[in-house]
Amino acid sequence: MSRKVLMNGAYVAWSEATVHISTHALHYGTAVFEGIRGYHNDEKRQSFIVRLTEHVERLYRNMRVLRLSIPLNKQEFANAIVDVVRQNALLEDVYIRPIVYWGAGTVGLYPYGRSNDYAIYVEPMGKYFDDIDSGLKVCVSSWARLSDNSLPPTGKFAGAYVNSVLAKVEAVQNGYDEAILLTKDGFVSEGSGENVFLVRNGTVLTPPVSDDILEGITRDAIITLCADRGYKVVERTISRSELYSTDELFFTGTAGEVAPITSVDGIVIGDGAVGAITHELKEAYFNAARGNEPRYSQWLTPAF
Ligand SMILES: Cc1ncc(COP(=O)(O)O)c(C=O)c1O
Repeated sequence: MSRKVLMNGAYVAWSEATVHISTHALHYGTAVFEGIRGYHNDEKRQSFIVRLTEHVERLYRNMRVLRLSIPLNKQEFANAIVDVVRQNALLEDVYIRPIVYWGAGTVGLYPYGRSNDYAIYVEPMGKYFDDIDSGLKVCVSSWARLSDNSLPPTGKFAGAYVNSVLAKVEAVQNGYDEAILLTKDGFVSEGSGENVFLVRNGTVLTPPVSDDILEGITRDAIITLCADRGYKVVERTISRSELYSTDELFFTGTAGEVAPITSVDGIVIGDGAVGAITHELKEAYFNAARGNEPRYSQWLTPAF
């Protein structure tokens, strides 16, 4: 069966799901999007969409910043996402991409007078990082994280991802799996598409929202999982050198999941193996996301 994309309320074939060359978002990055995972549970013969409500909430918050509006309320949009998963009937792990954007028109930055368009599509997605089990080799990026007064990193604005792409390409072409970006003041911010956590003497540390991070939904899940396991989480500004000397280090993200990091700029983290607390949180996250942990079932929306 061929895939279908929902565009402005109508299903279109994958090959027909295109936008006009004059689309404002294509030229100026004026789109907001989300990335949502659906995990297929073979035993339960069900796919679970992870934290759908929170993703839709974040999308609508970001739409307000870019002054986008569409004729669907949050509940209708969430229902549309579930419908796209159903219509495509992929019985495997998937990634769902909703996007809302300023549409086609004449040249000019001021976007009013154009349509506000939306689309939702789904694609199969396995591991985002090949080395998620053995641990990632990362670098500190030469690119600084963009700052809130220039382009808010707290939202998933399409244009902001040029910053992430520059960092990712530099890292991969230099032989690393991923980059960690620092703020303009030189403090640890986040990965190109992931939040970052350190473990030091049994305490879990992560940069605060004010250090130009995306307020990750997986980050929030990990904070909850830590609290439920009795690990103290401290959100505070983190210096670059703390990355090199920490006991454990890992990324979190919808696509990246919970990904252990075993070296930064060639410096081995801990003893070079995946840390014990990282491993425990990774297992706990996958159990919750795959629908094997009733305690966190409120995070999941069954698709079928
Ligand atoms: C820049 C950036 N940071 C962090 C994250 C992790 O956020 P979430 O856990 O909500 O996927 C993402 C991915 O969405 C991202 O693009």
